[in-house]
Amino acid sequence: MQKMANKYNTFLLKINIFVVHHPLTTNIPISSPFFLVRCSSTPVTAAAAISQIEPYLRTSMDRLSGAARLMIVSDLDHTMVDHHDPENLSLLRFNALWESKYRENSLLVFSTGRSPTLYKELRKEKPMLTPDITILSVGTEITYGNSMVPDEGWVEFLNHKWDRNIVSEETKKFSELKLQSETEQRLHKVSFYVQKDKAQEIMKALSTRLKERGLDVKIIYSGGIDLDILPQGAGKGQALAYLLKKFKAEGKMPDNTLACGDSGNDAELFSIPDVHGVMVSNAQEELLQWHAANAKGNTKIIHATERCAAGIIQAIGHFNLGPSTSPRDVTDLSDSKMENVDPAYEVVKFYIFYERWRRAEVQSSELYLANLKAVCSPSGIFIHPSGIEQSLHDCVNLLKTCSGDKQGAKFRVWVDQVLPLQIGSDSWLVKFKKWEQLGEERKCCLTTVLLSSKDMRVAGLTWMHVHQTWFDGEGQNGHPDWLF
Ligand code: GLC
Ligand code: MG
Repeated sequence: MQKMANKYNTFLLKINIFVVHHPLTTNIPISSPFFLVRCSSTPVTAAAAISQIEPYLRTSMDRLSGAARLMIVSDLDHTMVDHHDPENLSLLRFNALWESKYRENSLLVFSTGRSPTLYKELRKEKPMLTPDITILSVGTEITYGNSMVPDEGWVEFLNHKWDRNIVSEETKKFSELKLQSETEQRLHKVSFYVQKDKAQEIMKALSTRLKERGLDVKIIYSGGIDLDILPQGAGKGQALAYLLKKFKAEGKMPDNTLACGDSGNDAELFSIPDVHGVMVSNAQEELLQWHAANAKGNTKIIHATERCAAGIIQAIGHFNLGPSTSPRDVTDLSDSKMENVDPAYEVVKFYIFYERWRRAEVQSSELYLANLKAVCSPSGIFIHPSGIEQSLHDCVNLLKTCSGDKQGAKFRVWVDQVLPLQIGSDSWLVKFKKWEQLGEERKCCLTTVLLSSKDMRVAGLTWMHVHQTWFDGEGQNGHPDWLF
């Protein structure tokens, strides 16, 4: 434990916690984040600090003590992620909505055809949030939390009537099948490319052959090109059903579940009972055909008029699953009176303002700066990731000098895993990752903010303390441009 005191009676504790119990798997390793712990004149012991922040440490579904208010299970390519939008606008809108209104009490599940390797590549390319649960390789791999701990029970279950050597042997007999890259061949998934006009015929013939060889497989065609062969019990829908069963056994069945997809391998997601579904406007022909043949009268499934993540937001609104206005769609963020004491919203809102300020999308005005100063405690401190300590008011003054400095640049700011912890009747610690992207370069800080609602002169929350440390030791080259 590393301990640093400052004059405001706060301690920074670096705590290494390696395992916490996880109900769905065995034990989940937790990385070693920084936590800011406010305390009285009595020194905080590590044990007391841990017990105080214990619920806060849980990173996957276990962090919720009860049922999730909403569980979103979303495909990535062409659903959560729009590859035709270099600005990633709908993804950033979804992110802001999720972090301000859902992260604390809901579950985000990504369900992708990608292997862990390609999934990690996508995360580096796009401003994606960290999901609570990741379902990979077309529902053949389920992992939990930030460290992506695999569900061994699921792996075991998929061995039933499966032998990937037999699949390899039989598929070699079809010259039309072109093997995908090595990274996409997984323990319970064998993947090929095949032209659209050949797909149906080959799937039929293959299915007969593999049955004759004693296997029970599922063959899925997606995106008009990809052909996956999996054990019959696998697939995105089966993986979701498995998760729901586990939640039910724990008495934590989500209040609502929304499945989101665009292609053939997502069809199964929409056939799980009691699950709402959205096929994004840009859905592939094969998914729309499946819907027409199998789920036409089901009012729980919609075909959105909006593309990708915007379609997901549209579905949240359509099914009344909760708030569906992204803070990014609010022009005057200082005018959101309803959100007076909402720590997560406060953080999200601030960083959207910060992005707009530097992109020259808000007018540089003394009024904005005065408003910002009003919500920062005069004695408030900001500890920059470089270790330099400044007053919060000085930081606001610095903002003035960089108004519009990123105008016309590919500059974006987003926050991930915004988790507020109430530590007193009028104070919250909010921990999150703050990302900043400029062109192709991105940086991230683990950030902890202490907010208080004590100051009666301020309608909402007052910023008392901000502390940042580089995520994954990224700060080696110094980042002179990093302000907040
Ligand atoms: C992803 C995977 C690929 C799979 C496809 C459809 O693109 O990388 O292996 O075939 O999804 O499921
Ligand atoms: Mg897709």
